[in-house]
Order: sequence, then structure tokens, then C-alpha cells
Amino acid sequence: MDWGMKNRMAQLIKPDGHCLFMPIDHGYFQGPTSKLERPGETVKPLLPYCDAVFCTRGVLRSAIDPTNTKPIILRVSGGTSMVGKDLANEGITTSIKEAVRLNASAVGMSVFIGSDYEHQTLVNLGKLVDEAEEYGIPVMAVTAVGRELEKRDARYLALCCRIAAELGARVVKTYWCENFEKVTNSCPVPVVMAGGPKVPSEKEVLEFVYDGMQKGAIGVNLGRNVWQNEHPIAMIKALRAIIHENATAREAFEMYNGIKSGRERVEVS
Ligand code: 5RP
Repeated sequence: MDWGMKNRMAQLIKPDGHCLFMPIDHGYFQGPTSKLERPGETVKPLLPYCDAVFCTRGVLRSAIDPTNTKPIILRVSGGTSMVGKDLANEGITTSIKEAVRLNASAVGMSVFIGSDYEHQTLVNLGKLVDEAEEYGIPVMAVTAVGRELEKRDARYLALCCRIAAELGARVVKTYWCENFEKVTNSCPVPVVMAGGPKVPSEKEVLEFVYDGMQKGAIGVNLGRNVWQNEHPIAMIKALRAIIHENATAREAFEMYNGIKSGRERVEVS
């Protein structure tokens, strides 16, 4: 691996081998997602606790302070919307030249395996990897399911992650599922977990993140279940405790409750 690629991977994945990415890219197809109407204000208090931010160039330029930020994973695919025909019909929307200009540490794009646009999105991934590797920029592939959230099982996600890795992704983002070790064991590159739509119980989120970490994930790229939570700082600190401080789900949940009620202050190194 060349120096540039190694350096960028080290910016994203901390010395303990783990990572906490903060995605705020949802607007590229959802528009003004709840709590992300002003992404800069939402993410600012969370920045000290995340290892990288996943966003589009538009949000980066308009809402992130270039003098005080974290490594950026630039969302470079899109071209669809919640009100359009098919969320899977994505193309590459941002060039590698732009990623270099913006000093991105990585680029990220979605693949929609099993959809009508499987071929198109996978070929896009291959081409993006070709271009990004030339500049030492890692590609994170997002195994997207569009509106079909029920697709999230180990057999399907293992297939998606493996294909994304075979095409050259350096990191794969997928969903947690039962028997998650089947996904990580057959994926030759690091796997991070997304959260999906906000779930009512914080405990449930902390439990699946803990389970996924035990079963081989290196971290999360988890957005709505942090910044749509009423106590986003408590939530991100609790997640951080699982990812970087070996906390159990129970300890993390106690931490969440403690911070939420003002009983506990946790400093993150
Ligand atoms: C949206 C994405 C998000 O980055 C990803 O889904 C993670 O966010 P969340 O935890 O809110 O699902 O790729 O297209």
C-alpha cells in the first residue's frame, strides 16, 4: 500500500483498529432530513467524538469549518430522490479531482445489489476504485437497500459486502443483522455498520453495535440513531465507549443514561 493510501486509512481507522464515522450525507436523496435541516449545527457538537464525517461536497463547503474538522469521507454517488422512481438508479456525481481539491480522506458511494441497477452501480464502483486508487484515496462502498429494509439478512449482506470488496472497496459499510459474523468472516476488507432509520430504543442500538463489534465489525457509520436522538452527545459518547473503550452494551447504556440525566461527564481522549 502506498504512503498516501496508508496515511488516509490511518486518518479514518484509529490505532486500536476501530472507527466511529458520523454520516450526515442523507440529504443527497432525502432532502432536509429531520434534525439535519441545518447539518452544520447538528454535527458541530458531535465532531469532537467522531473519527470522520461522511457528507456531500455541498454540505462540506457550506456547513463544515475547513480549519477545524475531522477527516472527510466524501459521498460521491447520487442522482436519485425519495420522490423519484427508483433510489437504486445512482451514478457518480462528484469527480476525484473534486475529492482531491476538498482534501477528502476517502470517497463513498452506494451499490444496490439485487436491484434493477445492480450492474450500473457495481460498474460505477469499479471505475471509482480505478480513479481513486490512482490518487491514494480509499473507496468506502455502501451496501444500500433503498426502501427495502427487509433485505437486511446475513446471506444477502455477506453477498453485497464480498462483491464490494472484490471490486476494490477498501472499507464496506453495511447493516448489522443476526449472525453478523457471516458477513464479516467472508469480507476481506474492514466492515462498518450503519444504523438505518431511528429506532425507539437506545438500548437496542447499543446492543446491536456491541454485537457487531464482537462479531468482527471495526466500527460504525451511524447517523440517524445519533443525531435524531434527543440526547445526541450522550448517544455518541456511549457508542464511542463500545467502539474505543471496550464497554459492554450495558455499560454503554448506563453511560448514556448517566450523561442524559447530567449525573455523568465522560471525557474522551
Ligand atoms: C445514507 C447513508 C448513510 O450514511 C448511512 O445509511 C448511515 O446512516 P444511518 O445510520 O442514518 O443509516 O449511506 O445514504
